[in-house]
Amino acid sequence: MKDTIPVGIDALAFSGPAAYVDLADLATARGVDPAKFTKGLGQHRMAIASPCEDTVTMAVEAGARAIEAFGIDPAEIGTLIVGTETGVDHSKPVAVYVHDLLGLNERCRTFETKHACYGAMAGLTSSMDWIASGRARGRKALVIASDIANYGLGTPGEPTQGAGAVAMVVSEQPRLLEIQPASIGDYTRQVMDFWRPLYSKYALADGQYSIQCYLDALASAREDAVGARPDLLGGLQACLYHVPFVKMAFKAHQRELEMELGQAISKDEAEPWQRLQDSYARRCAPWLTLNAEIGNIYTGSLFLSLIDLLRKAGGQLAGERISLFSYGSGCGATYCLATIAAQAGEWQGRIDPAAELEARRRLSIEEYENMVRAGEQADRQQNLAPADFGLSGGLYYTGTRDDRRHYERI
Ligand code: CAA
Repeated sequence: MKDTIPVGIDALAFSGPAAYVDLADLATARGVDPAKFTKGLGQHRMAIASPCEDTVTMAVEAGARAIEAFGIDPAEIGTLIVGTETGVDHSKPVAVYVHDLLGLNERCRTFETKHACYGAMAGLTSSMDWIASGRARGRKALVIASDIANYGLGTPGEPTQGAGAVAMVVSEQPRLLEIQPASIGDYTRQVMDFWRPLYSKYALADGQYSIQCYLDALASAREDAVGARPDLLGGLQACLYHVPFVKMAFKAHQRELEMELGQAISKDEAEPWQRLQDSYARRCAPWLTLNAEIGNIYTGSLFLSLIDLLRKAGGQLAGERISLFSYGSGCGATYCLATIAAQAGEWQGRIDPAAELEARRRLSIEEYENMVRAGEQADRQQNLAPADFGLSGGLYYTGTRDDRRHYERI
């Protein structure tokens, strides 16, 4: 496929839980200096899903918003892919619930992708291939990233939790982002940095090792994408990364600059350190606000950063080149280059989730811990009442009756 055929993201939307925990509150409760979470990790709040909000409900809300805000006819969707590591069934895909609840056409290919935080990028590139092959016949793909990051109370991973879904419509002539297929580089290696056994609702992580695996994957996927380019960053207006916590984006950007300079960068050397600070301040930091407010949403977190960029600067950066890096533990990664679409500025107001975030409820640590414990039992509850968790209108999971999950719009 030639680089000139525009395929990419035509519509975007976020949806997440109605409640959050402030990380200063969490630090106090855990006897930790709040600066470790806010400065050391770069996180301020984390979204907390109640037992009535799951991967399906968040995916449906995000999908409905993307379709509605961008005036897309649901009958045009010929592929639906949901990327998640927080499936609700060992066999039945989240995607088929979402297909039903969104009222999509039955003549649609529908499946779920799982590879930790990489599932949505796998779905995005697969749907681009589907379009480029001619099989789409002018139709569009809906790719939804939906996850709930759960490490468990009092664990090192606890401050890096979060929850949310990002929906993307992928098409020819995209209105938001054109992705250059020839610039896509991939990487896979079997590592035990983060995983979740079938018996556990909580992820297990070898935290410091996972950071090294992420950085090694970035270096290899970037080389596969663009080779040993010492001058790539200079031509990019933004570098977006998978964001398990905001500081990780800084570490990632440092690794990229080190690759270009051919030397390690440390605080002790003023010139390269300042160069790193300047590059990060311009190409990364402005697009990490939503990640700092919502937390790790696993496979959607890269695309949350993209929403942040487009809502703030879609028009200003129209026609400019950016990079995207997706990392999924275990591990798999993709690095690619993309161009902000010429008309992105016209749509930037439609994708801003600020009002939803403003309306969220701040949980006390006691409420949060009770919510987590209730969540452990949610799959065995028959009649969950959304109001018990402070929820009013919306689509909710209301329990499993006769071994079947039930969803109701309240
Ligand atoms: N003030 C300011 N900064 C402080 C501080 C203070 N009082 N105390 C500590 N810090 C800094 C530390 O120096 C450190 O910063 P640097 O990395 O820049 O040195 C930072 O705060 C974190 O401190 P620690 O490294 O000591 O933190 P930790 O070991 O307790 O936990 C973690 C950090 C490993 C990320 C842990 O939260 C974790 O396991 N998270 C889950 C795994 C994860 O997110 N991995 C990321 C890569 S894998 C991936 O990306 C896939 C995915 O989504 C999971």
